[in-house]
Amino acid sequence: MKISDTTDIAAPIQTELALLEKEIEKIFSSPISLVSDISKHLLSARGKRIRPILVLLVSKMGKPEIEKSLKVAAAVELIHTATLLHDDSIDHNYLRRGLPTVNHLWDDKVSVIMGDYLFCSAFELLHKARLFEIASVLSRGSRIVTKGEMLQMDQRGKYEMTEEQYIEMVKQKTAALFASACQAGAIVGGLDETRQERLKSYGENLGIAFQIIDDVLDYVGDTSVMGKPVGNDLRDNRITLPLLVAFQRASSQEVKSIIDLIALGSIDASAWQKIVSFIRKHGGIDYAIGVAHRFALVAKTHLVGFEESPSKQALLLVTDQVVLRRQ
Ligand code: IPE
Ligand code: IPE
Ligand code: MG
Ligand code: MG
Repeated sequence: MKISDTTDIAAPIQTELALLEKEIEKIFSSPISLVSDISKHLLSARGKRIRPILVLLVSKMGKPEIEKSLKVAAAVELIHTATLLHDDSIDHNYLRRGLPTVNHLWDDKVSVIMGDYLFCSAFELLHKARLFEIASVLSRGSRIVTKGEMLQMDQRGKYEMTEEQYIEMVKQKTAALFASACQAGAIVGGLDETRQERLKSYGENLGIAFQIIDDVLDYVGDTSVMGKPVGNDLRDNRITLPLLVAFQRASSQEVKSIIDLIALGSIDASAWQKIVSFIRKHGGIDYAIGVAHRFALVAKTHLVGFEESPSKQALLLVTDQVVLRRQ
């Protein structure tokens, strides 16, 4: 089940969620036929919308003007979609949200330029609405995301990476946008700076948990549920927490045999089975899920002290869902 379909999560922001789709559609509409074709394609398969959901729920911890919070939520989803367009080109991914990717249907050039177009549209939207502080928060978040993607490139094939280095990369490439989304939600809700900081930390820890689970699902998830392929990370030589842990725990002989298997280049079904069994045997999957649980727990501690409300309750539920998710 999608996070946005979870009744208790969506209930406090039911009206906003419907209006959000309209706001997103407005930005996607273009007289240029190529842009309009890609937009139709992107709108035909909605993602989980977790980042705009966070913006809307966090903003409702205060007293937001709905027109403003909708613009912020839409901008965040556009930035996220832009990162996916770029990420899919970088990762040579062919399937996203159950549909062929833009780089697969068109090509890398189209995917990259469309990503740029969405990035710019998001910031234009915020500036037109005179949401300057939020534009600043989200541009900083976006810069950290790209820095994290670079860090990930730099770490490709580095089997000796430490868990701390992995977490730092995840914090940048994924959690920075979660953190900025929550901070932006707090600003638009009119919350004071202390609360903004706490909600930003909530978002950061939640984002780390989210990416760790994404990395777990890349080994043991179901393509038909996720709408994207498994095995992409290793195919692109990205060493994530489950494999990292198995490498740290295995004998050097075993590690060598797995590295030799990966070095062969194309990983066939039998090699893939061996690698997944190796990770499972050394508890890499359970360990990574455990670490994700810890970050989710830390995220929740940042909500302590906020007044009880349906939005706070929904944020606690989102946090649980992030760790339990299969999609
Ligand atoms: C995918 O994000 C990219 C990661 C940070 C793992 P989502 O899993 O939120 O993607 P959609 O928007 O639901 O498709
Ligand atoms: C997320 O990491 C990258 C972004 C910040 C966009 P992944 O590369 O793991 O995301 P998926 O698995 O392709 O969705
Ligand atoms: Mg990817
Ligand atoms: Mg992934």
